Amino acid sequence: MAIRKLAHPSLTVTDNRTGNTYELPITHNSVLATDIKKIKAQAGTNNDRPEDETDQGLRVYDPAYMNTAVVQSRITYINGQEGILRYRGYPIEQLVKKSNFLESAYLLMYGELPTTSQYSQWTDEIMHHTYIHSDIEAMFKSFRYDSHPMSMLTSAFATMGAFAPEANPSLQGQKLFTNAASGDLESLKILDKQILRIIGKAPTLAAASYRMRQGRPFNRPAQGLSYTGNFLYLLDNLSGYEYRPHPVLEKALDALFIIHADHEVNCSTATVLQVGSSLVDPYSVVSAGCAALYGPSHGGASESAIRMLMEIGSPENVPGFMAKVEKRERVLVGFGHRVYKNVDPRSTAIRELAEEVFAVTGRNKLLDTALTLAQYARESEFMRSRNLYPNVDFYSGLIYQAMGFPLDFYPVLFAVPRCVGWLAHWRQQMLNPSGVKIWRPRQLYLGEGERQYVEASERQANADSTVFDAPVEVSHGGDSKRNNLATYKDERGEIFKPRL
Ligand SMILES: CC(C)(COP(=O)(O)OP(=O)(O)OC[C@H]1O[C@@H](n2cnc3c(N)ncnc32)[C@H](O)[C@@H]1OP(=O)(O)O)[C@@H](O)C(=O)NCCC(=O)NCCS
Repeated sequence: MAIRKLAHPSLTVTDNRTGNTYELPITHNSVLATDIKKIKAQAGTNNDRPEDETDQGLRVYDPAYMNTAVVQSRITYINGQEGILRYRGYPIEQLVKKSNFLESAYLLMYGELPTTSQYSQWTDEIMHHTYIHSDIEAMFKSFRYDSHPMSMLTSAFATMGAFAPEANPSLQGQKLFTNAASGDLESLKILDKQILRIIGKAPTLAAASYRMRQGRPFNRPAQGLSYTGNFLYLLDNLSGYEYRPHPVLEKALDALFIIHADHEVNCSTATVLQVGSSLVDPYSVVSAGCAALYGPSHGGASESAIRMLMEIGSPENVPGFMAKVEKRERVLVGFGHRVYKNVDPRSTAIRELAEEVFAVTGRNKLLDTALTLAQYARESEFMRSRNLYPNVDFYSGLIYQAMGFPLDFYPVLFAVPRCVGWLAHWRQQMLNPSGVKIWRPRQLYLGEGERQYVEASERQANADSTVFDAPVEVSHGGDSKRNNLATYKDERGEIFKPRL
């Protein structure tokens, strides 16, 4: 391929509807979607509908964001083809080996590895912000004992917002955080304080959701332990003295936290930025991030991977399961990634860690099943031709399982460190010198054109309608059955029968 060096790289396109030619500047190997909007044609000349808005400019259709850059970021770089993940330029493998979670968190948030004094101030501040208001503990107690911990955590972050009215732009003015972009120190102080609070309290909230499930009283944050050491204390401490977590488990959790701290504009981070663009408070932002993370295609995958391994049972059942995957009857959870079409570098970093943990916790049948499955997947033409390799969730699930965490706690173990990534992106968004524009995508409207209201007496059921075109009949519990046989009086004293 001949390479031309251009001072002003650009793309020349011809609109065959009009014969017009446009030159679109290329910056960082991208064109601006708003430049494409300049490409206009006369409406109604190419079988287009009024709803296509042809004369308002060409649109970019990108369902599921397959090729759309929505931010300019300096935080994390991923190269999916080559299996690269770097935080602020540092390869993840180096950070896992040499750094620790809070140091990497500082790096993600502020752009550089901290000096010794910056690090000690940062860790002191975070560990100082680990306590939660006792009324938030009461909120946890209002949940059913068997509630999913992610439901509790998502609610807890939103609730925390109610305890920080001074950090709420709806109450304090919508520029509360964005003023920081122009160097307003007060605004920056409020912004950074919420970051300390959220990172500090995340393990406390996560542990509260866990202790609720166990029916155990909540522990209060401990002094003098590391971030993950304190987290293990909050989760596990009973009534003994001088609790110290096992160093291998503490270190493994810390490394897993580094690996999970950020991953560019993934589903939950995109959610965080979408919600953040409305200038809502950071607690609501993080709560929205949790909601996105909870889904089985995202942070729920490590839990689903273990459920799948439990279903497979033992290594001899692996070939049968793989046959179903190759017939596309099943998905191999913990394999494949939207961005990594090569090895997921996080899974490489985690594999060694897994061995260290298994040496302490012992191996189990599930692990043998997992390793057999990985072996079969490596040799499968179906998997190789689609570039499907084990992702981070495959190994993290195995480590969590070996460490004895319940399955539904896995997404929580992902959400706690991911708060750092969410907040680093949120901070970058608030500090954008060009201000924060609300994220408002468009759609391609394919529905009915304009039509006139039809009176109820003149409406007829559509003979072509399918099961999707009206509500289906839903099932009701036994109490509805009994209620249907009962009679009630309404507010006017008249007798009515429930209609269900
Ligand atoms: C992560 C994931 C959602 C990415 O999806 P995606 O980038 O949209 O990839 P696609 O759905 O386009 O998949 C491409 C092909 O690989 C297949 N495929 C993708 N992931 C697969 C998996 N885990 N098992 C079996 N087949 C898979 C698809 O069926 C598709 O096959 P086709 O081309 O014959 O139709 C997907 O790989 C997946 O569901 N993985 C399992 C869940 C998981 O581990 N998620 C955690 C991610 S960190």
